[in-house]
Amino acid sequence: MGESQKRHWTYRSPGGDAGVMTTTPQPAPEVPAPPTMRDVLAAARRIDGLVVRTPALTHPELDRAVAAAGAAGASLVVKHENLQHTGAFKVRGALNLLLGFDDEARRRGIVAYSTGNHAQALAFAARRTGTACTIVMPEHPNPLKERAVRDLGADVVLHGATFDDARERAGEVAAATGARLVGAANEPVLVAGVATATLELLEQAPDLEVLVVPVGGGSGAAAACLVAGALAPGLRVVAVQAAASPAAHDSWRAGELRTAANATRAEGLAVGCGFALTQAVLRERLADFLLVDDDAIADAQRHYLTGARTVAEGAGAAALAAVLTHPAAFAGRRVGVVCSGGNAGEAELRRALAG
Ligand SMILES: Cc1ncc(COP(=O)(O)O)c(C=O)c1O
Repeated sequence: MGESQKRHWTYRSPGGDAGVMTTTPQPAPEVPAPPTMRDVLAAARRIDGLVVRTPALTHPELDRAVAAAGAAGASLVVKHENLQHTGAFKVRGALNLLLGFDDEARRRGIVAYSTGNHAQALAFAARRTGTACTIVMPEHPNPLKERAVRDLGADVVLHGATFDDARERAGEVAAATGARLVGAANEPVLVAGVATATLELLEQAPDLEVLVVPVGGGSGAAAACLVAGALAPGLRVVAVQAAASPAAHDSWRAGELRTAANATRAEGLAVGCGFALTQAVLRERLADFLLVDDDAIADAQRHYLTGARTVAEGAGAAALAAVLTHPAAFAGRRVGVVCSGGNAGEAELRRALAG
């Protein structure tokens, strides 16, 4: 990419320096161009057969629940990425990235900082492609998540008390080893891979009028916007974020990158800043951006368990929570709801069922 195509962005906290910032963004990051529909189609070919073509299902009990909440006549189609390998949509992007590596790049490997689905997705794809993989986590991570990443064959480095410490360490590992540092949002190849979920959904349910996508860094929602923009111009893509971690929402509404408080329990949505690549796409194409609180997310998890007999983690349930919380936007419509992940722990599920 030529210098002229790269863009530089700076961050602004709400209320100037007083803004709460729990994830320190990189200063003025260099931002690559978003992927094109051609990239998305290439990704679909590349990962074909290696990912689950996840079901897109209707659940009468969920339609009843959203009608009771005020969305009369809404009929939902749930895209079950909670049934994807590693339990989340992220593996589509990770496979697309690593399948494109040559032997030398695979030998040098990848490094990332994450405790969540990004880490598991990269570890899964690394094992599948014979790529060295190091995941840096802050010390004392959730032992289940650490074990899941180790079980997938990745090296786990525990470093520091916060994600900022882990990110710094990951950068040092990359500099020392030549491994590719893989972020979760400003990565066009990941976005192109993730976009294959929307491509599938439009084949499975071509009559959707609205598509609701949960947002952390924004790769899933940006991917949905790219595909909808190319293939389904009438489809309204609506993003949803946790009200306790609203950085992407605030960035989109402000038209500039923002940091924000970052306190949601839904780990996949717990991001403290907007990202330039995904924000640029959302700004072009997103129809609306809604917020839901953590209790509404837990309520949606309960509906998935009891009404669809499926396990959604908090982030995975956020799109359904948006329909339940903002019913007027969905009444009478055919609504695609991305259930993006199912990696919920026991305590989380108990809390959801306890109401
Ligand atoms: C299950 C799940 N849903 C949604 C998201 C948010 O995705 P993005 O960061 O691409 O916006 C994540 C992120 O890790 C996730 O794990």
